[in-house]
Amino acid sequence: MRLLVLGGTRFLGRHVATAALERGHDVATFTRGMSGESPEGARALHGDRDDPDALPTALSGWSPELVVDTSCQTRAAARNAAGALGGAGLRGYAFVSSLNAYRHWPPGPVGPEDDEPTWTTDEDEYGPIKAEAERVLGTALGDRFLTARAGLLIGPHDPIYRLGWWLDRIARGGRVVVPDALDQQIHAVEARDLAAWLVEMAGQGRSGAVNAIGPRGMTTFGGLLELCREVTGSDAEWVPVPEEDLLAAGVQEWVHLPLWLQRDVARTAWDVDDTRARRLGLPTRPSRETVADTWAWMQTSDRPPLPANRLAPGLPPELEATLLSSR
Ligand SMILES: NC(=O)c1ccc[n+]([C@@H]2O[C@H](COP(=O)([O-])OP(=O)(O)OC[C@H]3O[C@@H](n4cnc5c(N)ncnc54)[C@H](OP(=O)(O)O)[C@@H]3O)[C@@H](O)[C@H]2O)c1
Repeated sequence: MRLLVLGGTRFLGRHVATAALERGHDVATFTRGMSGESPEGARALHGDRDDPDALPTALSGWSPELVVDTSCQTRAAARNAAGALGGAGLRGYAFVSSLNAYRHWPPGPVGPEDDEPTWTTDEDEYGPIKAEAERVLGTALGDRFLTARAGLLIGPHDPIYRLGWWLDRIARGGRVVVPDALDQQIHAVEARDLAAWLVEMAGQGRSGAVNAIGPRGMTTFGGLLELCREVTGSDAEWVPVPEEDLLAAGVQEWVHLPLWLQRDVARTAWDVDDTRARRLGLPTRPSRETVADTWAWMQTSDRPPLPANRLAPGLPPELEATLLSSR
């Protein structure tokens, strides 16, 4: 079938385009042409989705039957896609939203999708924008619209380098500051698993909202760090630091120590109902494969820069030195 990826050249979208090509679809990506190349075999359509004329112009003569939308970050982008793609020819539209669409996440917990309120305010912020985009597209597409409210994404080509920072740091070896919370649960979703599943869901014309996260018991923070040590062949030695000491030193959760959340937040933030995701077959590959493949990708010359407006993740060296010097 003709499958359009709105996005498709960076991380999740790139894996969507690749998965769709592997399944024999006729694939086009739609981007501004600034963040990378489409996978070989996909047609590269260009335009800015914030411009109402761009998508209809780019699509003239090529009408998609399926859409996977990984790039929606504005209300205008959602309105324009609804206007251009809401017609009768489309069979399925799988949209990538976020757990941030929920009013109460973070910190959560998040119950079954239909029981949880999403944002209805008009702030120019990520969660309210994703929630409104879901409504705008859902209204235009009805039962052909599925929204995947994704949690943490990991895998090769991740331009945000959360897991990537840990791989780099652990590969350097020596004494590594880790939060004294290695048993913290992590239910991330592998970008390649989510990508293949989105293609499948669009193809089946599935509808509704799905919490797109990994299964409970998938891994722990310590489990991921151990895999980083293993795949990098590092001699790194963990130096566990209690939460109170990290906070007193000015360490910011998630930013300075990527993937780490304060105890109280972690307890509920990872407590997300995944019944529908599992019922609809969202797969989960072994975390070892994800970590090893991410590290292998990071050894190539393919590392993209951080997206604009993104803070580089990781513990500043002077903060690390201070924390280590007293231990
Ligand atoms: N990372 C996480 O942990 C996480 C968690 C939950 C949800 N999400 C969501 O998951 C999705 C993942 O995104 P991704 O970066 O991996 O997807 P991607 O499709 O691989 O990359 C984003 C694409 O959007 C294109 N793009 C950006 N602005 C555009 C515009 N105005 N018009 C047309 N194209 C535009 C970029 O190309 P150009 O720059 O060349 O235009 C790029 O190809 C996002 O929707 C994000 O909100 C991520």
